[in-house]
Amino acid sequence: MSPFRLTRTLPEDATDAALRADVLNGLTRTPKTLPPKWFYDAHGSELFDRITELPEYYPTRAEREILLGRAAEIAAASGARALVELGSGSSDKTRHLLDAMPELHAYVPVDVSESALRQAGEALVAERPGLEVHALIADFTAGIRLPETPGARLVAFLGGTIGNLVPEERAAFLTSVRALLAPGDALLLGTDLVKDESVLVAAYDDAAGVTAAFNKNVLSVMNRELGADFDPGAFDHVALWDAEREWIEMRLRSRTAQTVKVPALDLAVDFAAGEELRTEVSAKFRREGVTAELAAAGLDLTHWWTDAEGRFALSLSVAG
Ligand SMILES: C[S@@+](CC[C@H](N)C(=O)[O-])C[C@H]1O[C@@H](n2cnc3c(N)ncnc32)[C@H](O)[C@@H]1O
Repeated sequence: MSPFRLTRTLPEDATDAALRADVLNGLTRTPKTLPPKWFYDAHGSELFDRITELPEYYPTRAEREILLGRAAEIAAASGARALVELGSGSSDKTRHLLDAMPELHAYVPVDVSESALRQAGEALVAERPGLEVHALIADFTAGIRLPETPGARLVAFLGGTIGNLVPEERAAFLTSVRALLAPGDALLLGTDLVKDESVLVAAYDDAAGVTAAFNKNVLSVMNRELGADFDPGAFDHVALWDAEREWIEMRLRSRTAQTVKVPALDLAVDFAAGEELRTEVSAKFRREGVTAELAAAGLDLTHWWTDAEGRFALSLSVAG
C-alpha cells in the first residue's frame, strides 16, 4: 500500500489567528457575517456528509450522475496523471473520477478539515494500492502550493463549493487557480445552476433539520475555540433565495435581544431580537456567467456537461 501523506501548509496557530480575525471582523460589523469555512470541524464535516444524503439536497446526486456518465470523457480530455481536489471533504464522488483514471499516479486532496482528509485519505490508499495520496490541510482562498507531481494535472473543485465565494472572492480564487495550471493542465469545476426557488430553498432547509444543525455548528465552534457562550437554541436557522444576486443565503436569526461573550477576543456582541448573522452564501450559476468568470481569470471553457434535469453542471477549462 502506498503511504498516505498529510501536510499542514498552515501552522495550527495560523488557523487559530484566522478564526479570531474572522470572528472579530464578522461579529463587529453590520450586518454580521462569518465565512462558511468555519462550519467544518469534525462534527461539521460529518453533518455535511449527512446533508449530501438528504432527499432535498439534489446537488450531490446531480453531480454524481454527471460524473458517472462522463468520467471517462473527463479523464480522456484531461489526460491527467495527477488529480488535485480543492475542498475535497469525504472524496466520495471523486471515486468515480478515480475509477476512470487507472493511469493516475497521484491524488492531492486539499481541505481545511483535517478529520475529513485523514478519513478519506486512509480509505483511499487502502482501496487503491499504487495511488499516491498526498493530502494538504490548506485554505484554498489563501493561495496554495502544490507538491511536485508527474505529468498533466487535473484540478477539480466539486460540490458547487465555488458558490460559497462572493463574486470578488471568486475572481481572485479563479485567478489563483489559473496560476496553478501549467500548459496541458485543466480545471474541472462543479456549479449548481439557477432553478425554481422552492427547490433551492428546500435544499438548504431540510425537513429533518440537518442543515439547521450544520448552520448552528459554527456557534459550537466559536464556543469551543474562543470560549464564547452562544446558546444554539437561541438562534433560528434561516435559508432564503436572493433573486437579484442569484444566491441562497444561510443565516442565524437571534430569537431575542441578547449579548454573547467571546472571552478569547475580549468581546461582547449584542444581537437585537430578530437580528441575523449571515453564515453562508451559495451562488447558483448560468452557463454564460460561468464562461465569463472563467474567461476573466484567463481560463477557456472547453466542455460543459449537465445532469438530465439540468440542475447542476460540470465544466472543463484550460489556461487560455
Ligand atoms: C460544500 S463541501 C463539498 C465537499 C465535497 N467536495 C463534495 O462535493 O461533496 C465544502 C468542502 O470544502 C472545504 N472548505 C470550505 N472552505 C474551505 C477553504 N477556504 N479552504 C479549504 N477547504 C475548504 C470544507 O471543509 C468541505 O469539505
